[in-house]
Amino acid sequence: MVHITDEMKEIVGRSKGFAVATATKEGEPNVVPVAFGKVLPEDEILLMDIFMKKTEENIKANPRVAISVWDLDTLRGYQFKGIVRIETSGAIFDEGVKMVKAMMPELNPKAAVIVKVDSIYVTSPGPDAGKIVE
Ligand SMILES: Cc1cc2nc3c(=O)[nH]c(=O)nc-3n(C[C@H](O)[C@H](O)[C@H](O)COP(=O)(O)O)c2cc1C
Repeated sequence: MVHITDEMKEIVGRSKGFAVATATKEGEPNVVPVAFGKVLPEDEILLMDIFMKKTEENIKANPRVAISVWDLDTLRGYQFKGIVRIETSGAIFDEGVKMVKAMMPELNPKAAVIVKVDSIYVTSPGPDAGKIVE
């Protein structure tokens, strides 16, 4: 059972955004930077879809994604993998819209991309790099 710890949340908070990797059904990879995101309760990560195109198409065809976050100051990082669901209304979508509008009121998010995290890997340089977090 994975758990997004307080230390991981701190890194997400200190990072400047998320690298979000998706793939087509055929395995063609795609990775994009996403600034508007946060850790939700229940070990989920919210990413706000404002400009996503290939990412959105890929998610609809293949909901498995990988997300990388890191803190350059302390050289700590984690990779989160999971399955996405998309919500275009409701409490989580509204929370995400509020987060976006607080910084950039002119943006109009299309959807909340919610990742149910099922595995977490260390990316921090050192002996644990690449290891799965049990
Ligand atoms: C610094 C930065 C932050 C970004 N943040 C977001 C974001 O929060 N949400 C979003 O939908 N797109 C964001 N984008 C745009 C995406 O990275 C990307 O351009 C968009 O998803 C279209 O690419 P795609 O067709 O591969 O999905 C951001 C881009 C940059 C450079």
